[in-house]
Amino acid sequence: MVQGWKWNRRSHFPLLFLIFMVVITATVLFNEYRIHHNHQYQSQDHNPHLQHNFSPDEFDRFTTCSSTVKYKGRRVGWDEGYRRSPVSSGVRECDVFSGKWIFDNASYPLYNESNCPYMSDQLACQKHGRPDLGYQYWRWQPNDCNLKRWNVTDMWEKLRGKRLMFVGDSLNRGQWISMVCLLQSVIPADKRSMSPNAHLTVFRAEEYNASVEFLWAPLLVDSNSDDPVNHRLNDRIIRPDSASRHLSKWEDVDILVFNTYLWWREGPVKLLWSSEENGVCEELDGLPAMELAMKTWANWVDSNVSPHEKRVFFVTMSATHLWSQEWNPESEGNCYNESNPITQENYWGSGSDLPTMSMVNDILSKLGSKVTVLNITQLSEYRKDGHPSIHRKFWETLSPEQLSKPESYSDCIHWCLPGVPDVWNELLFHFL
Ligand SMILES: *[C@@H]1O[C@H](CO)[C@@H](O)[C@H](O)[C@H]1NC(C)=O
Ligand SMILES: *[C@@H]1O[C@H](CO)[C@@H](O)[C@H](O)[C@H]1NC(C)=O
Ligand SMILES: *[C@@H]1O[C@H](CO)[C@@H](O)[C@H](O)[C@H]1NC(C)=O
Ligand SMILES: *[C@@H]1O[C@H](CO)[C@@H](O)[C@H](O)[C@H]1NC(C)=O
Ligand SMILES: *[C@@H]1O[C@H](CO)[C@@H](O)[C@H](O)[C@H]1NC(C)=O
Ligand SMILES: *[C@@H]1O[C@H](CO)[C@@H](O)[C@H](O)[C@H]1NC(C)=O
Repeated sequence: MVQGWKWNRRSHFPLLFLIFMVVITATVLFNEYRIHHNHQYQSQDHNPHLQHNFSPDEFDRFTTCSSTVKYKGRRVGWDEGYRRSPVSSGVRECDVFSGKWIFDNASYPLYNESNCPYMSDQLACQKHGRPDLGYQYWRWQPNDCNLKRWNVTDMWEKLRGKRLMFVGDSLNRGQWISMVCLLQSVIPADKRSMSPNAHLTVFRAEEYNASVEFLWAPLLVDSNSDDPVNHRLNDRIIRPDSASRHLSKWEDVDILVFNTYLWWREGPVKLLWSSEENGVCEELDGLPAMELAMKTWANWVDSNVSPHEKRVFFVTMSATHLWSQEWNPESEGNCYNESNPITQENYWGSGSDLPTMSMVNDILSKLGSKVTVLNITQLSEYRKDGHPSIHRKFWETLSPEQLSKPESYSDCIHWCLPGVPDVWNELLFHFL
């Protein structure tokens, strides 16, 4: 059954593996991108001379805590008791997030892996030798209605004169690449452009005067992990009450798609409040720290978003498939060699933490119509077949032991493209 904290009670291997996968794959994803596009990564925000200065602009990967004390219970500015009345249209709307996967090789994939020049080597599973291509052919079918059919021209019309920005971690980045791949085919090569990989990366299409952008902000608030390339750090330090560096990039955007989750699952986080002048950090567990960050974010949404001028989406946790015994008790592997979705209705793995979901749910519901939830967790839970496993580029050299045991280095966190994130984008299209 559902056991949110199950993984904590297991041996250290899965925990270390999760940490390894999240941090390393997020890092190499960006390295790959940088190398692929042969651009020098320009470090604009990271002046080492400023490392002991604690003003928000200079909070970076060199920031350290002078000492660490226990969390003293401080809250962020957003009123806890406040509750926006939920919008009731009177009509009971269909829950597009409950449904099932239908094999449909007539309409899927929506694009070909090799035809997308912006594809990431971390997600191009076919190119990296994946023998079974079934993962590309599944359509999401809600139980009580149909999704709007993906239409690239319609999507571009919705984006005309606008900026669409994905803000978050490497899962969100995968969704952004999916969106770019879905959209780019109808734009002639000389009428589109991609900026070099940086904190903010921008795909532009001239004829629509539109852009589809990705902002690296794995913890939403400002942190020492905001360098898109160098964020392999021992301590995770966040500024719980400020997202100013990210915010300055996202505040004028028309359509925003946020996510955050896996980075909070690595254990305790250090808090460095804006008002703290001596570099004293507080330590707090991932979940309550994520709650502080979400409230800082929610505070911005609450006071800056009017749904008629700006659309804000929040993508819930993406499922991971790190322990095959959760869906097949006889086995000891992970997503490696899985080629079919899980068919058991309401299947829920231990990677999708229920207390986190409930905290997120509570905050999002207080924002009412200012935010649209893309609740992709359940539908992604079914897709144990959708991860790259060993069929992606790995940057670290694999040892003979690893190579003889492919499960040991499989990526069961990110998603192959074309694949599951395309469906997240169809849901986004559905609600736009
Ligand atoms: C779709 O799948 C069916 C059954 O596997 C197969 O017979 C058919 O040739 C496939 N069609 C396409 C277009 O790949
Ligand atoms: C992908 O490529 C195949 C064969 O090259 C082609 O039949 C199919 O139409 C392409 N699909 C898309 C969505 O472009
Ligand atoms: C997509 O939408 C456009 C404009 O609404 C319409 O003309 C076109 O037929 C649609 N394409 C598909 C494949 O449904
Ligand atoms: C292009 O879009 C931007 C907003 O993203 C807008 O400010 C600008 O006026 C648009 N330019 C044209 C020529 O429509
Ligand atoms: C992969 O799965 C297939 C059946 O789906 C099985 O025959 C094969 O032995 C498995 N390979 C490994 C290395 O586990
Ligand atoms: C997402 O859906 C799950 C059921 O699949 C539900 O338990 C959860 O509360 C939902 N989360 C949000 C934020 O709506």
